Amino acid sequence: MQVVLNYLKQNQARAVAELCELLRFPSVSAQPQHKPDLRACAQWLVKHCRQIGLEAKLCPTAGHPIVLAKTPRSKGQRRRPHYMVYGHYDVQPPEPLDLWHTPPFEPRIEGRSVYARGSTDNKGQFFAHLKAVEAYLQTGTPLPCDLTFVLEGEEEVGSKSLSHFLKTHRRELACDAVVISDTGMPGLKYPALTYALRGIIAFEITLHGPERDLHSGVFGGAVENPAMALARLLAGVRDDRGRITIPGFYDGVAPLSRFERAQAARYPLKEAQLKKLLGAPELFGERGFTATEQRSARPTFEINGLTSGYQGEGSKTIVPAWARAKITCRLVPDQSPEQVRRAVLAHLKKICPPTVRLEIEAGHGAEAYQVSPTGPLAQASLRALKKAFGAEPILMREGGSIPIVNQFKKILGADSLLLGLGLPDDNAHSPNEKFHLDCFAGGQRMSAYLWQELNPGLD
Ligand code: BES
Ligand code: ZN
Repeated sequence: MQVVLNYLKQNQARAVAELCELLRFPSVSAQPQHKPDLRACAQWLVKHCRQIGLEAKLCPTAGHPIVLAKTPRSKGQRRRPHYMVYGHYDVQPPEPLDLWHTPPFEPRIEGRSVYARGSTDNKGQFFAHLKAVEAYLQTGTPLPCDLTFVLEGEEEVGSKSLSHFLKTHRRELACDAVVISDTGMPGLKYPALTYALRGIIAFEITLHGPERDLHSGVFGGAVENPAMALARLLAGVRDDRGRITIPGFYDGVAPLSRFERAQAARYPLKEAQLKKLLGAPELFGERGFTATEQRSARPTFEINGLTSGYQGEGSKTIVPAWARAKITCRLVPDQSPEQVRRAVLAHLKKICPPTVRLEIEAGHGAEAYQVSPTGPLAQASLRALKKAFGAEPILMREGGSIPIVNQFKKILGADSLLLGLGLPDDNAHSPNEKFHLDCFAGGQRMSAYLWQELNPGLD
């Protein structure tokens, strides 16, 4: 093991330089003009995986390609434990560009962090696992298990192709667990095992009013303003105690156990620090729950985008023809996405006034995910985290979603170990995204230890 750790230490500068190469690809899955960049990024990864000693190939899909890379299998051996390492090389759109201090796809190192879109979400995080396996392969240290890396290019847009790929490669991908670093840790001294993720439903609602934009002086007052109607419709969905008022919304929500509330209370980022980090005038959340619980273990209804009328410079006196909102709800165990979707839509239909026409477009959906925080897989992960970061790890729930983990369970029967390396101030999905180089190095050590801890006594 020491030889692996030494290798990692001695090769850190090169690992950072390679990560910067990977960060140069503008692999924005949501924007069709970047399709060639996703392909180029996937090709770079295949080449890199081969260079470090993996057997790698590019798997074309109906969308963006999947990179599949395996540790060389020794022939005629007994069946060895097999783990999948999952990551995504696609990134969120970098806009608004003017808020970046330096261009999003020109990685810049400042202090102990690398700044670039995709640095923490998710290129830096999965690259740590590749560097760990490189250390085993390049030092000739036997791995106690087989590993398959699955790196997809559509996580930020719903993982459609991977979902299909899992079904068609069920046998090849059958594994004992999936290891994922695509979540967070509260601080460098707080390595963390995430044992739950929130689920999600997405939809768009449009209220249609007059058939065209109207002069607001000539007609305003006698016709419904769709933007006003939408504001009223949405405002009533949450009360001033932070509870969602939609009948049936909380059906199935599993109450928090005493163990879970105790774990949440150990989360080190407290309300005052959170307020400062977010730059919000005050925090707001559901009464009766701490901020940590509110943002990881309670369901929400959020407006992600709100559009209507004239958005250009100066004023334009109109009654707009329509108003639209992009909405997502985060879900927790054991809410059913379909049931919540039905409850929300029925409610909106019921309260929509007859002066506008309601159009609803359904988007993606996924249930929440939960894995035992005390089982043998979790115990092995906690030991690896502790050794790698030299601090006692915490157990946490995360508010974000990785919908594909449900498919790993359903299709492959495998649990996911969520070993996040992102810090709360990493700015995932925001301008000036970064990744801490100590998280990168710690993540490499964690990955190296993990294969041993999952398989004590094997090599
Ligand atoms: N890496 C995130 C998920 C995440 C981040 C989980 C932080 C927990 C903590 C992932 O790339 C992501 O952004 N997922 C989307 C999923 C959505 C598009 C279905 C999300 O959570 O919004
Ligand atoms: Zn993301």
